[in-house]
Amino acid sequence: MIKLGIDVGGSGIKGALVDTETGQLTGGKVHIDTPSPAAPDRVCEAVVELVTHFRWQGPVGCGFPTIMADGRAKSYGNIDERWLGVRVDALFEEHTGVPFTVVNDADAAGCAEMTFGSGRGKNGKVLMVTIGTGLGTALYYDGQLIPNIELGRINSMKGEPIEFYASSKVKKEENLSIEDWAHRFDYFLNHVDRVFSPDHFIIGGGISENFEEFCEYLTGDVPITVAQMRNSAGIVGAALAAGSLQR
Ligand code: BGC
Repeated sequence: MIKLGIDVGGSGIKGALVDTETGQLTGGKVHIDTPSPAAPDRVCEAVVELVTHFRWQGPVGCGFPTIMADGRAKSYGNIDERWLGVRVDALFEEHTGVPFTVVNDADAAGCAEMTFGSGRGKNGKVLMVTIGTGLGTALYYDGQLIPNIELGRINSMKGEPIEFYASSKVKKEENLSIEDWAHRFDYFLNHVDRVFSPDHFIIGGGISENFEEFCEYLTGDVPITVAQMRNSAGIVGAALAAGSLQR
């Protein structure tokens, strides 16, 4: 079945039509820069633009970079504080006229990887980490998602969320070498290992494509696989959620 998947991120809002039986995009992705500030009305305009672009009239699945419970944003992550408490699904439905299911963006990406990508057939505790504007995490146990696990929000030594220290946005802003950034990311993975003892890490987001350049700096012994669906995981996972009941 074809569904529209939309991935709202800190730097881009992307959409594509997805065949939910194969996990393949049926055409190109459309990217709109995330407005700054990413206030609800402006993000909503971008979402309307995507739905209109695809002339889409069916259910839409959307990954959103905050804690999502029953379609409501329970945090505002790295976007705009005006999202806190907003019924995101209802807002998008009102402006597009089509039904929306909105889930956490990392949970969506994890779902795509567990269904079609690196996580297929992996049991035990699998933790997907999406490295981008923030550090998004999705935890699966025997293939079952435990939603809204926010490990990027663990405090770092500085008392700030660790994603302010080890995301790829920070790498760019602080002009860190891949090695310097990798040591930070390694600190994060080792800390998560100590607390959750996952059986497997899957890492995604643009920087994961350079895994060969930084894997030598990762010191833990939990097996790490790169997300197979690369930057489409968020869109595909969002499409898989389309039409489902909200959590
Ligand atoms: C948010 C998460 C989100 C992650 C990646 C974090 O700032 O708290 O909910 O999954 O960014 O976008």
